[in-house]
Amino acid sequence: MTNERLKEHVCIVTGAAQGIGLATARRLATEGASVFAFDIAEPTEETEGIQWIACDVTSPQQWQENVERVVADAGPVDVLVNNAGGVGSYADLADTSRADWDRVIMLNQNSVFFGMQAVLPSMIERSTGSIVNVSSMWGIIGTPGVAAYQASKGAVTMITKNAAATYAGRGVRVNSVHPGFIWTPMTEAQDAGITQGLIDKTPMGRAGLASEVASAIAFLASDDASFITGIQLLVDGGFTTV
Ligand SMILES: NC(=O)c1ccc[n+]([C@@H]2O[C@H](COP(=O)([O-])OP(=O)(O)OC[C@H]3O[C@@H](n4cnc5c(N)ncnc54)[C@H](O)[C@@H]3O)[C@@H](O)[C@H]2O)c1
Repeated sequence: MTNERLKEHVCIVTGAAQGIGLATARRLATEGASVFAFDIAEPTEETEGIQWIACDVTSPQQWQENVERVVADAGPVDVLVNNAGGVGSYADLADTSRADWDRVIMLNQNSVFFGMQAVLPSMIERSTGSIVNVSSMWGIIGTPGVAAYQASKGAVTMITKNAAATYAGRGVRVNSVHPGFIWTPMTEAQDAGITQGLIDKTPMGRAGLASEVASAIAFLASDDASFITGIQLLVDGGFTTV
């Protein structure tokens, strides 16, 4: 069920060429938003209501330039969804190379810092705005391996709470969404044994859909969540309950 609760909202969604980001961009557009998709890749499918902007979220300079473009084109940014990210390396801590560590932290963690810095001044000035950072269930509970990914997602959890606490009195809400195992091009590419193990451990007995994460993001982005800031919204089929 959708509605027009994001009408006249200017929204940026990163990593929106596929997967959770694409589903989110579509969902926000369906709810009436002007959506700008920031990605290094071309979209896999064209969608009405979404404008594509080539942007590498690991570059603070590209963030500044492209946010200025959005503002010039559509007006100030109301919603930022920091979704771009990737596993990068499945290695455990002892085997994680410095290069892998830096790459994953840059993509998953520093990009969120850059993105929030690019939109926050205007949100604070206008006393309105909603930021949704896509972390992971691995940003809340531990798992073996994927050391850099887990560290980066944990950092996203805490910088979200930090920004929520800092800006709660200035009209800006900041929340994080924590997907469990979701079918996307990212997880379709991973080892089948890892995939089956994660599904087996999910109480609902299946993988989630990108659209199911998108609906949680759209809720937090919208005024339906007007008294909600600093939460960690798990979308994990019950994975973290057991
Ligand atoms: N799929 C899951 O099971 C799952 C679980 C937990 C968390 N997540 C998180 O959800 C988010 C989306 O995951 P997904 O499964 O849809 O991934 P995906 O790999 O299918 O899509 C990621 C998108 O990010 C883009 N991207 C990568 N590097 C970029 C960069 N430097 N600048 C701009 N865009 C860039 C890619 O081009 C791609 O379009 C990620 O942050 C991921 O960590 C996913």
